[in-house]
Amino acid sequence: MRIGFFDSGIGGITVLNEALKMLPNEEYIYYADSINAPYGIKPKEVVKKYIYNVVEFLISEDIDVLVIACNTATSIAVKELRKIYDIPIIGMEPAVKYAVERDKDMRILVTATDLTLKEEKYQKLVERVDNESRVDSLALPKLVEYAEDFIFEKEEVVPYLRKQLEPFDWSKYGSVVLGCTHFPFYKSYFREILPGHVKILDGNVGTIRHLKDILDKNNNSYGSGDKKMTFYYSGIKDEDNSILKKYLNKL
Ligand code: SIN
Repeated sequence: MRIGFFDSGIGGITVLNEALKMLPNEEYIYYADSINAPYGIKPKEVVKKYIYNVVEFLISEDIDVLVIACNTATSIAVKELRKIYDIPIIGMEPAVKYAVERDKDMRILVTATDLTLKEEKYQKLVERVDNESRVDSLALPKLVEYAEDFIFEKEEVVPYLRKQLEPFDWSKYGSVVLGCTHFPFYKSYFREILPGHVKILDGNVGTIRHLKDILDKNNNSYGSGDKKMTFYYSGIKDEDNSILKKYLNKL
């Protein structure tokens, strides 16, 4: 199977990492639109154009299935893309439903990009599952920048994250949802700052389970061993996959 992965940049590598564990024998083509990242702070119409260019490129690479490993791109375009292309297209969904069901009477904080939080897709999801108004949201745009710039130093990242998370009364919260694929790179810092009872949830494993279900349902032959990885950043092929490797090493 040729599985296309796409993100505004390198955040989707946190999703790809799960795919490599669960579906290790496939051929992966990962497209990081790094030159245009971040998406989450740009006007929707501009981002839409970037997304269509990338998807057109991946389709021309003859992929069998596409994973939009980017919450922002999913929010903006997944519905329309599914109408245009007839291959299965899997998007990201913040684990809000799971958190609401799990946390019963506690509050939930969803972290994502500005664009994701403003989009109708997210608003509708919250409307659908949050009957008791227990869901709050917080944009963390700087985490995307840090990840894109390969900034992982604790001294740099933790003060920013601490400042953003400080205003919340954590005794009322049961979980924090990571609604951007860049954020799991910093999961250990979230863990360090948040009290132990607050669970940190991301949708990465769920997304790859969904991918596997789709492959099963479509009776596609997979797992046959055509193991290969191609990594592009905004159309440029990374010949030795060095960018990919250095980020995978951070997970
Ligand atoms: C961004 O490019 O701003 C982040 C994209 C995402 O939501 O994963």
